[in-house]
Amino acid sequence: MDRIDALADSFREEIRAHWHWLHAHPELSGEEKETAAYIATELRKMGLEPRENVGGYGVTALIRGAGPGKCLGLRADFDALPIQECTGLPFASQNPGVMHACGHDAHTAMLLGAARVLLKLRDCFSGSVKLIFQPSEEVAAASGARRMIADGVLEDPKVDAVIGQHVNPFDPTGDIGVRPGPMTAASDGFVITVHGKGSHASEPDQGVDAVLIGAHVITALQSIISRNVSPFDNSVLTIGKVNAGTRRNIVAETCTLEGTCRNLKPEVRDAVAERMEKIVKGVTEGMGAGYSFSFIRGYSPVVNDPALCELVVRAASGVLGSEHVHIEEFPEMGGEDFSCFSEKVPGLYYHLGCGRPGEPCQGVHNSRFVPDEEALQVGVRLLTASALAYLSPAENADRQTPAPAQQN
Ligand code: NI
Repeated sequence: MDRIDALADSFREEIRAHWHWLHAHPELSGEEKETAAYIATELRKMGLEPRENVGGYGVTALIRGAGPGKCLGLRADFDALPIQECTGLPFASQNPGVMHACGHDAHTAMLLGAARVLLKLRDCFSGSVKLIFQPSEEVAAASGARRMIADGVLEDPKVDAVIGQHVNPFDPTGDIGVRPGPMTAASDGFVITVHGKGSHASEPDQGVDAVLIGAHVITALQSIISRNVSPFDNSVLTIGKVNAGTRRNIVAETCTLEGTCRNLKPEVRDAVAERMEKIVKGVTEGMGAGYSFSFIRGYSPVVNDPALCELVVRAASGVLGSEHVHIEEFPEMGGEDFSCFSEKVPGLYYHLGCGRPGEPCQGVHNSRFVPDEEALQVGVRLLTASALAYLSPAENADRQTPAPAQQN
């Protein structure tokens, strides 16, 4: 462990420089050309042979250990958000209106750092580490994970498990949060349009008021969460956007409602979508209007593999001390396309504390979000220690020879 710490520390300046460059050059989902080129160049400098344009701007590279064994994927995302940065950092975004406000720059800098450390520790593991640099996490319709998988990222060599991390400013640097089972929620979207009939506002009987019907739809939809979903299942239904009408003295012809649903179980996800359409149909038709309804499937829940979770908790306890490894009580209701990996192979996704001591906490997706630089070191050490734990000869042997069944 001391060796990992010392190596991570020896690359401190380089890791910081990666972070600063990436932070200053953010690119939106699907447009990360320069970021991908930067990553590939840095991997080449390390003596690796990156594969580029994997499912879009994805980049991968393989680090081989001392002998044959399993292959572990380490994943970092690298797209930015359409936000005007207000941090005042000396290395703030040079692209107006675009900012690394979700820490994906830090994720990438840490994976580049972990690659450096792992290359120095090749003799300490068997099998291989596949570095997975993923574009386009923020836009569900263009998920980089999905596209990289379709382009074979989990093959040749076949990836046996994947680990990913995400910075979390609500925990202090030096702490991590993780849990077996669901870690993030399914995040779906929907658009509902009520088709009424316009009329003069003083003659509502001549029209079909899409605003009034839209209001009933909004209220009725909330009954799904309170009356149809079990109190023991987590589910959210939020309408975040309403658009209707043109003038105050005209009965609105249409009313459009847009929102999102979050939940953790496939059966709840399907049931909510089905109930929604029934309610929209019943309310609108009952009140004399027509409707259109589209349910846009986003990311599935990230479900952490229990055995992999145990392994990473053990490795993280060695790095940070077990008092700094928190088993989170609840999943987060946000979405994350790491689920595309964890649906295919055992996956583990954890939250890396990056709260700055003494600074007011700004959440991710905020124009003032700045992760604590020291968290980069922690993330590099965790990725490395987790990889060594998974690929150490003892662990490989354990998994290849199942323990005899207990007799009792
Ligand atoms: Ni993110």
